[in-house]
Amino acid sequence: MLARWSYISTSRLDAIDIEECIRDIVTVSIPRNRSLEVTGSLLFTGRRFAQYLEGAPPAIEEIKAAILRDSRHGDVRTIASGEYAHRRFVTWSLAYAGPSHFVADIVERALSDALENGDEGIEALIQTMSEFSIHGRS
Ligand SMILES: Cc1cc2nc3c(=O)[nH]c(=O)nc-3n(C[C@H](O)[C@H](O)[C@H](O)COP(=O)(O)O)c2cc1C
Repeated sequence: MLARWSYISTSRLDAIDIEECIRDIVTVSIPRNRSLEVTGSLLFTGRRFAQYLEGAPPAIEEIKAAILRDSRHGDVRTIASGEYAHRRFVTWSLAYAGPSHFVADIVERALSDALENGDEGIEALIQTMSEFSIHGRS
């Protein structure tokens, strides 16, 4: 059985060393997710994060607990959670809008829509993640 958890949060990262902070998050996340057989996607616009995680329920609970106590972001709002039949992402992947305000604006709009639409927003969020994800190694 699989579980999933998706949320949108507000970044508390200092704009000065943002690239390095993102690298730190990714460097820890890829091997940890891989060892727990967790897949998903992480989007970052410079202002907000959106993440979708899927895997065995205890693995999702473990990573969720770590993410919730992480002070690099706050105001974590769950978009979807609970049991889910199949994986939507076969590799752990990341998309980072970086200095592209054009891309960040598009993703920001998609995140605002997902927050407003609650459960129904998750499919639109997955679509955005699929379009913008850079596929990492699984
Ligand atoms: C936006 C964001 C997304 C994160 N995503 C993951 C993730 O997918 N997997 C992971 O292991 N850690 C992730 N982390 C890092 C965890 O919050 C945590 O720092 C790390 O897993 C170490 O956990 P610990 O507190 O148990 O030592 C993320 C952190 C942030 C701020």
